[in-house]
Amino acid sequence: MATVPSRRPALDPRALAARFPILARQVHGRRLIYLDNAATTQKPAAVLAALEHYYTHSNANVHRGVHTLGEEATEAYEACRARVAAFLHAPSHRGVVILRSTTEALNLIARGWEHHLQEGDEILLTEMEHHSNLVPWIMLARRRGVTLRHLPLREDGELDLEALPRLLSRRTRLVALTHASNVLGTVNPVAEIAAAAHAVGARVAVDAAQSVPHMPVDLRTLGADFVAFSAHKAYGPTGVGFLVAAPELLEELEPVEGGGEMIREVHLDRATWNEVPHRFEAGTPNIADAAAFPAALDLLEELGMEAVRAHEVALTGYAWERLASLRWLQLHGPADPHRRTGLISFYDPQLHPHDLAQILDSEGIAVRAGHHCAQPLMRRLGVPATTRASFGLYNTTEDVDALVEGLLAARRYFGLPTGGAA
Ligand code: ALA
Repeated sequence: MATVPSRRPALDPRALAARFPILARQVHGRRLIYLDNAATTQKPAAVLAALEHYYTHSNANVHRGVHTLGEEATEAYEACRARVAAFLHAPSHRGVVILRSTTEALNLIARGWEHHLQEGDEILLTEMEHHSNLVPWIMLARRRGVTLRHLPLREDGELDLEALPRLLSRRTRLVALTHASNVLGTVNPVAEIAAAAHAVGARVAVDAAQSVPHMPVDLRTLGADFVAFSAHKAYGPTGVGFLVAAPELLEELEPVEGGGEMIREVHLDRATWNEVPHRFEAGTPNIADAAAFPAALDLLEELGMEAVRAHEVALTGYAWERLASLRWLQLHGPADPHRRTGLISFYDPQLHPHDLAQILDSEGIAVRAGHHCAQPLMRRLGVPATTRASFGLYNTTEDVDALVEGLLAARRYFGLPTGGAA
């Protein structure tokens, strides 16, 4: 596959790093090298300023007060909804539900759509899902007696699409899959899978937490019915996630939380619901963090998502080559950086990932080690855990070189040979 042509100038990660105040700090006397962007990204000064501005100028509750602050807060909160819709080319801002997290969005689909399901119906997932796209469906299966099926993984870290015809049938009511794996990096062909799912009448829900921040995602072509992602993995604040769909598809969901804001009329013994998306936003929402998220989208739009993607493809390609030269390391997921997102999981059979991550931390390098909320995938890969380096706008080839040096240092620390390095 050819490199995605970028209409914007190439990213300058060093100049970008200067816009993220935390990256100026040191860890254990070393420059912080932050390679845990798939867990959460760092926040640019503009997002921190937007948070402070909201609290110092406009703090009030939304959709309630007729006073100036209430109107400003509502405007800032609703601006987030409109910006998310525009960023993803969603059909309407009325199709954007502002929630707490990707996890909450996926749970809302599972709970809110369950009245369409009955015993014998099937839900198709994949073997590479995060727990947040497994456990809500396991809970649903327990409640409704539906059957869960799983699209298998090939040895190269991609989904086995040849299994699709035997796994999809008229019994399949919903397909839920990740756009990009948080462990393997694999970018899944959502449009192709969605077309097959739609052909049997199934709905398609996509966990886009690891794709939206890293590549152009356009809902006009993605093929998904429901899309979930989080602000905090996209350089925005924690505590804000989104469910995005066409408004008429949101109408298919029942609200799962009752309370203020989500109602039209309440009597002592009955109630009617507000229009979508407000019927899914019971209670006072996370106004400030939603109000600050557009500052992160400003940054991504200034750079252009094609340029963001090109930077990560180049950096991941470089990292793969350097890590593959350490012969003792097992690398997971597709080798082609165009088929993956900006992260690499690896496993040293002689070093526990937690020990490795601790040694890297002593060098100022932040990576994630563990099962990455994907225990079934760890079993499928035959490893107890992996170490994962995940990249962002501000990462450079020097950061990758430091990681490789850190991995060599860890082997030396434990008295293990490093001679296998090519
Ligand atoms: N889902 C996030 C990760 O993969 C937390 O690290």
